[in-house]
Amino acid sequence: MTTLRRRTFIVGGLAGASAGILVPSSAGAIAYPFTLGVASGEPAADGFVIWTRLAPSPLNADGLGGMPNTATAVDWQVATDERFTAVVRSGTVTTQQASAHSVHVTLTGLEPGREYWYRFRTGGHISPVGRALTAPAVGTQPALTMLFTSCSHWEEGYFTAYRRMAEEHPDLVLHLGDYIYEGGATTTKVRRFAPTSEISTLANYRVRHAQYKTDPDLQAAHATAPWLVVWDDHEVENNYANLVRNDSSPAGDFKARRAAAYKAYYEHMPLRSAQAPSGENMLLHRRVRWGSLATFHMLDTRQYRDDQACGDGTKVCPDADAANRTLTGTSQESWLIDGLRQKLGTWDFLGQQVFFAQRLAAADGSKSMDAWDGYTANRTRIQNAWDASGNKGTVVLTGDVHRSWAANLMQDYGTQNRVIGTELVTTSVTSGSDGNAADNGLKPTLNPHVKFFKNLRGYVKTRTSSTEMRVEFRAVDKVTVRDYPVKTVGSFVVEATNPGLQAP
Ligand SMILES: [Fe+2]
Repeated sequence: MTTLRRRTFIVGGLAGASAGILVPSSAGAIAYPFTLGVASGEPAADGFVIWTRLAPSPLNADGLGGMPNTATAVDWQVATDERFTAVVRSGTVTTQQASAHSVHVTLTGLEPGREYWYRFRTGGHISPVGRALTAPAVGTQPALTMLFTSCSHWEEGYFTAYRRMAEEHPDLVLHLGDYIYEGGATTTKVRRFAPTSEISTLANYRVRHAQYKTDPDLQAAHATAPWLVVWDDHEVENNYANLVRNDSSPAGDFKARRAAAYKAYYEHMPLRSAQAPSGENMLLHRRVRWGSLATFHMLDTRQYRDDQACGDGTKVCPDADAANRTLTGTSQESWLIDGLRQKLGTWDFLGQQVFFAQRLAAADGSKSMDAWDGYTANRTRIQNAWDASGNKGTVVLTGDVHRSWAANLMQDYGTQNRVIGTELVTTSVTSGSDGNAADNGLKPTLNPHVKFFKNLRGYVKTRTSSTEMRVEFRAVDKVTVRDYPVKTVGSFVVEATNPGLQAP
């Protein structure tokens, strides 16, 4: 590692994707290490986190990315222009094998509400350039373009939705869980998992995360804007609940498995050090303010939940309504209710994983035990809290179900009394593979408050001002074929002072 050479940086910035030509010939130099791209996240009014990981051989089975077991210095720069003629922050961090040579730099002291660009360098190699934004200052409410999605299954399709998200030039991206899938490879889909077995060790989780990050469409989406991420179940194991497993394969200590999964997740995401895991625990729920326009309450509905009632599945289950059952855990519930009562901005966005509104599957009242329908007392306490505080601009943002949905949130789903909020459910990036635009999942007699359904892959685009939120459900017809165009398959308006879905 040499001292920072400004000239090299400028050449690298102009060269863009061909920055790898700057490989030095000196002995011991590593091959191009920025194979996983760059990312930013956790925007605040004065900064954000920038991320990369050194991995010249990202799929090495030991999960160490082809890096030697040495501390490796990485230079970073933040500029106010894409060509780095005005560098406003720079520094050097030391990466270690213990954290898979991942890099998390937390920026502070930047100006609110503006764009920045960042990049990294090590051993003469220059990373791609990423764009980040700081949140606007408290007291201001500039309009926000925010995209959200979930559920990216590597084998079930190409990440075209991520590419289209990058092309939207958003201010902020939310990923609401199932960023990776933990399963073993199949032979029937568009591309195969690495490793090919179900992942359960730290090495395997690292390889799977690295494989995802090699995808150019995903890299583009990360490089275009800061992300706020929360996990669902597949970042560890399908439908796990706290430390209760969903199945017993592969055998092993689930605490150790969850610790490995959380560690690999942290290593590969642009998260703050406050989110760094400790053993099998990791504090993921957090609040992020976007000026006085919106507050993002990012929730974790896996780590603290009670086991699914009546053995999980979709069923009629009186236990689902037990007062002491919890999806959030009592501490996170108190934290959320406290945050909602503060009314920190015009809008409160709950970024979370599983279907929030009541959604009856059949006339007998059967419902999904993995969703909030399996924890109804917890849901009622949260809804009542924001309703009692007079929060009209509460919007729940949801993933998990691999379909687009939109619903009004009701004070009482049974009597259909009073709309008190709105739920927008993103479809998947690829999970479920190609959709079917002709599917109709609405059951208006059972769920009159549920207004929209579409079975195609994609994301949700939102444009939020101090008075209204314009919502477009964006979708591609196929993910088994590369590069489909994106189109809008549903549109709504949500008014800041009048909860519920309106025609655009
Ligand atoms: Fe999923």
